[in-house]
Amino acid sequence: MPDSPTPWQSFSDRIHAAATADEIALVEHELFGRKAGAMTNALKALRDVSPDQRRTVAEDLNRWKGALETQLETRKKELGSPSEEKMKTADALDTSLPIPSRERGHLHLIPEFIRTVEEVFGRMGFDVATGPEIETEEMNFNKLNIPPDHPARDLQDTFWIKSENPEERLLLRTQTSPMQIRYMQSHTPPLRVIAPGKTYRKDSDATHSPMFHQFEGLMIGKDITLANMKAVMSTAIRELTFPDAEFRFRTGFFPFVEPGLEVDMRWRGDEGKSREGKWLEVVGCGMVHPNVLKNCGIDPKKWQGFAFGFGVERLIMIKHQIPDLRAFFSGDLRFLRQF
Ligand code: DAH
Repeated sequence: MPDSPTPWQSFSDRIHAAATADEIALVEHELFGRKAGAMTNALKALRDVSPDQRRTVAEDLNRWKGALETQLETRKKELGSPSEEKMKTADALDTSLPIPSRERGHLHLIPEFIRTVEEVFGRMGFDVATGPEIETEEMNFNKLNIPPDHPARDLQDTFWIKSENPEERLLLRTQTSPMQIRYMQSHTPPLRVIAPGKTYRKDSDATHSPMFHQFEGLMIGKDITLANMKAVMSTAIRELTFPDAEFRFRTGFFPFVEPGLEVDMRWRGDEGKSREGKWLEVVGCGMVHPNVLKNCGIDPKKWQGFAFGFGVERLIMIKHQIPDLRAFFSGDLRFLRQF
């Protein structure tokens, strides 16, 4: 029977004791909630009270109902509405506070490094060009003096793409070198350009990834020599890694240059310990082959120059002593947040 004043008195006590708008909202819900509120139920239950008692019980209930409603309203005003309360605490947004640096997004270290590359070469007068990742066989190989049966093709395990046109075989570019062709075909020398971007090969281990980044470089002029190339390479390597970087040039073979060179850098530091002292190839370069110039309509008797291709991940690995290239692409925030 809901006619005992005791539960109503304890509700009343709770209203007076409530310290927050949330507490008040809870008491109100327990009392007047439409489905299970104590007062709601008590009023519904009136119809089961015997007729001779109903009147007294109803009067008593109504008195409590009115009193509790008044107390609730009074206390609510004193404490503020729940939404106001929440706004002051949980939902409060103080736009004058600095953004916690931990939460601030930043570039992945690869695009960030590429920006630095563009700056460093920009200071040496190089333009920046970009081109397609889906290339033709013609651009990626043939025009670079790598004919279909050339063994150098085996060195670059290629992802071929179905092409609608049987005359034009398509692939995911295995190198940024086709950008040399594209740039020479659309510009007249003298030229100075770099072309950063993604490249693809069927290859995966600690120093290879099926998708990786390179940047190609090309400098063509009247009297550009190997000495100019060495100077540009050395400056770039020092500025992109360490002022006292240790590197070496050795001869290498690439069909699109003659002579061809490779640059290795020496591992250093703690984290690359297992490799410390060992060399990692980071650049291929050389004097642009006369056939390549001819393929682009440039007269090799008038113009000459050098080309180079840097492995971006490898440079960053050396710079930050990252022993496994796959860490770049694993999406592990603990790794990415360090940079
Ligand atoms: N494209 C070559 C590779 O991916 C790198 C390279 C070597 C680029 C020599 C050049 C160059 O421009 O002259 O292995």
